[in-house]
Amino acid sequence: MNYKELITKLDKSNMPRHIAIIMDGNGRWAKKHKTKRINGHKEGVKAVRRIVETAVEAGAEYLTIYAFSTENWRRSKTEVSYLLKLIMDSLVKEIDELIKNNVNIRFIGSKEKLDESYNKRVMETCKKSWKNTGLHLNVAMNYGGRKELLDAFNSILADVCSGKLDTEITEKIVSDYLYTAGMPEVDLVIRTSGEERLSNFLIWQSAYAEFWFTQTLWPDFSREEFIQAMLDFQQRKRRFGER
Ligand code: FPP
Repeated sequence: MNYKELITKLDKSNMPRHIAIIMDGNGRWAKKHKTKRINGHKEGVKAVRRIVETAVEAGAEYLTIYAFSTENWRRSKTEVSYLLKLIMDSLVKEIDELIKNNVNIRFIGSKEKLDESYNKRVMETCKKSWKNTGLHLNVAMNYGGRKELLDAFNSILADVCSGKLDTEITEKIVSDYLYTAGMPEVDLVIRTSGEERLSNFLIWQSAYAEFWFTQTLWPDFSREEFIQAMLDFQQRKRRFGER
């Protein structure tokens, strides 16, 4: 069945409101095709385009993709610079098309370690889409779940010390200080390439998420598989701790 037919099978009243994707396997894809790692990432960008388009067609609300983690700085200098440039170039290249498709895009993650000019360019480019009311696309860039929580706790502490905040800390307050403030919690986490870990991705927001894993390497991840993940989600019984 092609993806358009699969979309018609989705129960619109039970959609995962927030889907998070760990795009894994670019390096192994490159190895399999006897080419350089960077070509795996280049192919990965094509998959990002395909999946974002499909998310728009399926009427998804929030999609967060893990583009670069706080741990990815440990890779070789060449690969790190390549990834940073590839992500920026893809954003700049795709922004008009994203805007046309009513996508509201933002980068979530720490600004530390990235050049001020890089952060500024990201902000200025994304800002053009912030009036859009369709898919909310978050690109997790220099993102780490523990770093996000530490940033939140330190901001809470600062606001308590300055008197701006004088209540006990609740789950709502923590959520409101995260990069994802105001967004729904994650319903569905998808990870490609056969790895079955969360890898410090949206650890607070995924507390009750359903997980969906596939052996497919990210550059090969198809529109059909993406919709299948949503269909499988709709078959799950979510109990949130109840019997
Ligand atoms: C994991 O594969 C992938 C990444 C660390 C980078 C993901 C980035 C992209 C797909 C680039 C585009 C992003 C945007 C937003 C345009 P890996 O290198 O860990 O693969 P391996 O585990 O097989 O070595």
